Order: sequence, then C-alpha cells, then structure tokens
Amino acid sequence: MNILIISGPNLNLLGEREPEIYGYETLEDIQRWLCEQPETVSMKLRFFQSNHEGAIIDKLHDAIDRTDGIIINPGAFTHYSYAIRDAIAAVNIPTVEVHLSDIHNREDFRKISVIKPVCIQQICGLGKVSFLEGLKVLTSQLGTTIR
Ligand code: DQA
Repeated sequence: MNILIISGPNLNLLGEREPEIYGYETLEDIQRWLCEQPETVSMKLRFFQSNHEGAIIDKLHDAIDRTDGIIINPGAFTHYSYAIRDAIAAVNIPTVEVHLSDIHNREDFRKISVIKPVCIQQICGLGKVSFLEGLKVLTSQLGTTIR
C-alpha cells in the first residue's frame, strides 16, 4: 500500500510551535514514529510538507496513478481552502483528514472544515496517533488486512 502523508502550513515548526497544543515532537519525530509502528510495516509511506497551497495541490495531482491513499493534515487550510478540497475531489484517491489537536474544542473558526466532505473521515485530537488512526481507516477502506 502506497500512502502519501501531507502536512500543511506551520507544521514544519512542530516541536517549537505552541507546544502546549501540539506537543514537543517535531514533524520528523512523528514521521519516524509512524514508520516504526507495526501497523505500517507493509506500507510504503511518503511524506510531504508545504506552507504553500499551490504546492499541496500540485502534490495531490502528482499522486494520481501512484498512490493508494492519502492522509492530509491541511493545517489552517482546513478551514477555508476550497482549492485543496477541489483537488482532493478531483484526484479521487481515498483520503483521510487528520489533526493533532481537537479542532472542535478550540476557537470557533477551527470547528469548520471545508475539507471534511471530500474525505472518508476526519480524525482529530489524538496528537500523532491521529495519523496512525487515519492509516487504519485507509487500510480498512482499501480492503487490506492490517497487521
Ligand atoms: C491543526 C489544526 C488547525 O486548526 C491549525 O491551523 C493547524 C494544526 C492540527 O493538527 O491540530 O495548523 O491542523
């Protein structure tokens, strides 16, 4: 299973960015942890982070024909990027939206996701485990047995 994991703006600053909300681990720490989990042994995980909406859209387009599933943490783009939403709908690859924090228990603007309707599921509030749970959702959606 070939999985693309996309992280959006400001997630490159994980570890130092508002650690009381996002924790002290860097994005690299989280990516390494994901690769070490028994559930991901049989998966090929590819990681991409960008602070730019267009770069994320280009990466989604590049995924056509070479990716079985997508995990995306769109960062603040979650709340207003119709362009990323349209790109996810356009590429038609099973996608799960994930967030480290519980966006439903923060500021009102974070409660709205324009991305959610084009995703299989939204998972939030579990820290790095949100990514792992997202991978499990993709696995069951793709009909593969998770080890
Ligand atoms: C986030 C939540 C967003 O509201 C915020 O803009 C982020 C991170 C999360 O992972 O909790 O950048 O996506």
